[in-house]
Amino acid sequence: MNLITAIFHSTLGKKYLMAITGLLLILFVIGHMLGNLQIFLGQETINAYGAMIKSKPALLWGARSGLLLVIAIHIWSAITLTKRNNGARPVGYRVNRAVAASYASRTMIWSGLILLAFIIYHILHFTVGALDPTLLKLKDDSGRHDIYQMIISGFSQPLVSGFYILSMALLCMHLSHGTSSLFQSLGFRSGRQKVWADWLALVLAWGIFVGNSSIPLAILMGYGKEVLKQWSGTQKSLPAR
Ligand code: HEM
Repeated sequence: MNLITAIFHSTLGKKYLMAITGLLLILFVIGHMLGNLQIFLGQETINAYGAMIKSKPALLWGARSGLLLVIAIHIWSAITLTKRNNGARPVGYRVNRAVAASYASRTMIWSGLILLAFIIYHILHFTVGALDPTLLKLKDDSGRHDIYQMIISGFSQPLVSGFYILSMALLCMHLSHGTSSLFQSLGFRSGRQKVWADWLALVLAWGIFVGNSSIPLAILMGYGKEVLKQWSGTQKSLPAR
């Protein structure tokens, strides 16, 4: 108990919490992206994947609760560390440090909070269906939730896709700096390791940007457009909202 209190109350403890929760979030983002990229393998593959995840509710809700806790700890450590840093330095010193710091590092707290807004929008869009409830009622020929059609329909709106791609650019910026800091906090960025750690952080951030953005971009360029005809037909057969 004392150890937990010490971790949550010390600056070093909070830095470790940020690093470990950041690492877990990166693993989630990579896993989620690999799952979503199955859209390029076709309707059957991605719908079967979605059905498989939803067939284990205990595991799904356990993972969702864990993810929520990890996000909450990450944001809490970020806000408390930022407040502490801002309060601990005389103004002049802070300005000099700010000039020396990279643009990404100075804007980490803001890119993080905007990403939180993106995640809330994204969950309302695809998990809750609050923006368009018909998206959650789509069924494929096997009676499974038609995730394929949902994503194609969602991203066939240029404004929605544009917003996602912009958010992915912000995520890329947040991750390239965040992953370097994570390596630093965990002790993998000293001496000659620095070059490799920063290079790996950059490759990871760009890989996630390209992988995630390829989905709305491909849909805007016409990928999967055959289901849109089906979609307008389905909308007509669904009860009016
Ligand atoms: C083009 C990129 C993305 C696509 C196509 C996509 C797709 C989806 C879909 C279809 C769901 C709903 C799953 C379901 O309940 O059936 C979902 C949920 C979610 N996504 Fe994404 N996503 C993308 C990017 C991201 C990113 C970058 C993040 C985080 C930074 C993210 C975080 C989440 C979270 C937290 C959930 C809720 C998980 C749950 O319902 O259990 N997504 N996403």
